[in-house]
Amino acid sequence: MDYLQILGNNHLTGTIKISGAKNASLPLIAMSILTKNRVVMHNVPHVADIKTLLKLLGNLGAEYTFEDETVIIDASRIVKTTATYDIVKTMRASILVLGPLLARFGHCEVSLPGGCAIGQRPIDLHLKALEQMGAQIEIKAGYVQAKAPEGLHGATIIFDKITVTGTANIIMAAALAKGETHIINAAREPEVVQLCEVLRDAGVKIEGIATAMLKIEGTNQELLHVEPFRIIPDRIEAGTYLCAGAITNSRLSISFANAAHLESVLAKLEEMGCCFEVTEHTITVIPTENLQPVKIVTQEYPGFPTDMQAQFVALATQANGVSIIEERLFENRFMHVSELQRMGAEITLNGNVATITGKTALSGADVMATDLRASSALVLAGLIAEGETNVHRIYHLDRGYDSLEKKLQSVGAHIKRLKE
Ligand code: UD1
Repeated sequence: MDYLQILGNNHLTGTIKISGAKNASLPLIAMSILTKNRVVMHNVPHVADIKTLLKLLGNLGAEYTFEDETVIIDASRIVKTTATYDIVKTMRASILVLGPLLARFGHCEVSLPGGCAIGQRPIDLHLKALEQMGAQIEIKAGYVQAKAPEGLHGATIIFDKITVTGTANIIMAAALAKGETHIINAAREPEVVQLCEVLRDAGVKIEGIATAMLKIEGTNQELLHVEPFRIIPDRIEAGTYLCAGAITNSRLSISFANAAHLESVLAKLEEMGCCFEVTEHTITVIPTENLQPVKIVTQEYPGFPTDMQAQFVALATQANGVSIIEERLFENRFMHVSELQRMGAEITLNGNVATITGKTALSGADVMATDLRASSALVLAGLIAEGETNVHRIYHLDRGYDSLEKKLQSVGAHIKRLKE
């Protein structure tokens, strides 16, 4: 198993290129199930989750290549409709194939994802919505067994909670359903917006893109023809590197990022005293030696992303005063706290609220990554800790960060990937 060794007291300088968004690529790869032509997507990040979903599609019978940053998928000859446990257990987002498989073939079996480090993460809202669209669903032997012998039909779906992959699943199901689907309380994340835009460009009539109310006219099982497209930049990767600049007090630039997708993150960094220079594709953080404490509540987009919470907990350890960070989306997403405490951070947890008192000098330690974003928080802490930090179990990090150590090395960080 690999781990990252970081020597602290880093000062960074230069520009980091931001990769395409993992969370935009995943639904768009699943979307290829709805197509009759070879789908070409550029700017796909080389991260483990993408390879996992491609493998799943390969098991179903799709052909694909992933070279440089371009994925080409031919899903026209899919022969199987079962997403097996061995793949789904490694990545919950595999559930994204449920809507498209059911819409195209009228039946499918998708393993239930099972437990998750950051919380229960049920898929009840996905299933309820598909039932409203005419699916008959049974849970048997750990699998969602879904049938829609007459095909799916349009329906009015009101999501009780905003769900990102739930919205994506239903958008894809609705694209091939018979009639009109209304999704109320839809997720508005940029990654969901891109899925809608690609489907719209393929001829699916979608109204309300980027709003919480979507109206989708299905093609009644006619497969789509999708033109090549480019995946949007990864706003979470971008936010993480901006935090790297802020925590190391370094003027650091990121390129190929989209500042419009980062408003809530930039606003919190500004509250903490950082400034920015923003051009069309570059954002430069101008740090401050005197970071201010911050209050954050995680929310759905355009609110502050839960996927940036852990990184801001790490950053808040360097702010002068008491920061309060509340996690509202996932019940167990503070596992990085105990690892940061082992590095000397002063953090108290009360339910879903972390109170961080700074500024504390962190010291290098052996720490364990527990989930994807928690891992990057430990890397950020390691960049400024005194001495050596070893971040273990970085397979979590590899799920979602493309070449993290190489990108950080390129701006001067002392970070190495080693074998246990
Ligand atoms: C997606 C992102 C993930 C991000 C999360 C929240 C992808 C591949 N992953 O995950 O990085 O952290 O959005 O922004 O895009 N819920 C239910 N029932 C459901 C579905 C969700 O109760 O059927 C709850 C969840 O437990 C959670 C909340 O709704 O509390 C939001 O979850 P959701 O938006 O579905 O997260 P994901 O789509 O899994």
